Amino acid sequence: MVSAAAQAGVVAACVVLFVPMGLAGWHLSRNKVLFFSGALFVSLAVGVHLSPYLPSVPHLLATSFFVPGPGAASAAASSGTSCVPFLHRVSWSDAASAGAAANGLGGGTARTWSWPPSLASACGFARLSRDDASLLLNGSWVMVAGDSQARLLVLALLRLLLDPAAAAAAEPELFRRHSDYRAAVPARGISVDFVWAPFESNLTRLLREDLRLAPRVPDVLVLGSGLWHMLHVTDAASYGDALASVAGAAKSLRSPLPVPPPHMFWLGLPHLVNHMLNTDAKRAHMNGTMLRAYDHEVDQRGLVRGDGGPFLLLDVGKLTQGCGQQCTADGMHYDGEVYDAVLHIMLNALVIESQQRI
Ligand SMILES: *[C@@H]1O[C@H](CO)[C@@H](O)[C@H](O)[C@H]1NC(C)=O
Ligand SMILES: *[C@@H]1O[C@H](CO)[C@@H](O)[C@H](O)[C@H]1NC(C)=O
Ligand SMILES: *[C@@H]1O[C@H](CO)[C@@H](O)[C@H](O)[C@H]1NC(C)=O
Repeated sequence: MVSAAAQAGVVAACVVLFVPMGLAGWHLSRNKVLFFSGALFVSLAVGVHLSPYLPSVPHLLATSFFVPGPGAASAAASSGTSCVPFLHRVSWSDAASAGAAANGLGGGTARTWSWPPSLASACGFARLSRDDASLLLNGSWVMVAGDSQARLLVLALLRLLLDPAAAAAAEPELFRRHSDYRAAVPARGISVDFVWAPFESNLTRLLREDLRLAPRVPDVLVLGSGLWHMLHVTDAASYGDALASVAGAAKSLRSPLPVPPPHMFWLGLPHLVNHMLNTDAKRAHMNGTMLRAYDHEVDQRGLVRGDGGPFLLLDVGKLTQGCGQQCTADGMHYDGEVYDAVLHIMLNALVIESQQRI
């Protein structure tokens, strides 16, 4: 039994090592095969060795890196579902001040996120280095459309992909009020687009008109809006109707494509700290009752995966709440560490999906 398991482990390690290498020339929009250096591979190898039960090789391929292991994820992994449901289980702690300074966070107590080690090793979750992230996204087009939360996610992505000086240089352009932004990592053929789209109707239009007519669709598409609707329209049911249109447009964008459809993510609403909001109108309209009603619509309108929709939810609400009030100055926009967590959850989901599409 032990030696059978060890043999299977060797086979698994070879599959994991050589299959992606053979296919590494295809970028994310083709067959999504990634070749990882460093951390991911190491955690994978550890996961295989600790495994009390080894699935057959085809099963391993189908579920990618996620073999049953100790900890919370094992039931899900052995029942053939992936580790995606565990991606948001991050914990928060106070960072050492040196780390906080390195993250570019201001004064006060900086917070830092991590996956619990048992979960990280059972599921192979890892914070990607600059090299791994650019390998993952090699040749890909990433489009992020939405409001200021979406912009902060783009900033986190640029901070990961570019060297610190280049990321700092990109910031003023990215933060030019109410405008689009484009960045590239030429060495890796990566392009990143931010599209200013504060209302859901802007997103629907982007999907139905701009992207439908484009010669190519993004490999990764991240959308999210709701704060502007809450402030200016303040009606959850109408927000829900608008989300249903976005979901419909996203589904119709997917169906006729000859190429694999984009990986789609929905950026959820942040936790709002009402007394910290910086205008009377915001404090009046953006209260806890409204936020719950808006969140409910996100879950109920055929938008997100759990509800039959095309988007994997990036649960910004949970992450902002986890980081806490000390991570926000205006009750709405949070420190970079939150969007770094959002980004890594997304990238790890891409790793999982990429393996599943082999
Ligand atoms: C990265 O993508 C380029 C084309 O965009 C390709 O030529 C190159 O082989 C890719 N590199 C890896 C490591 O996949
Ligand atoms: C977004 O939609 C609103 C309302 O439909 C419209 O007034 C605005 O011009 C649109 N903005 C962009 C950037 O398309
Ligand atoms: C929350 O905001 C809505 C919209 O402005 C308002 O109708 C409602 O009374 C507020 N609820 C609370 C508990 O403040």
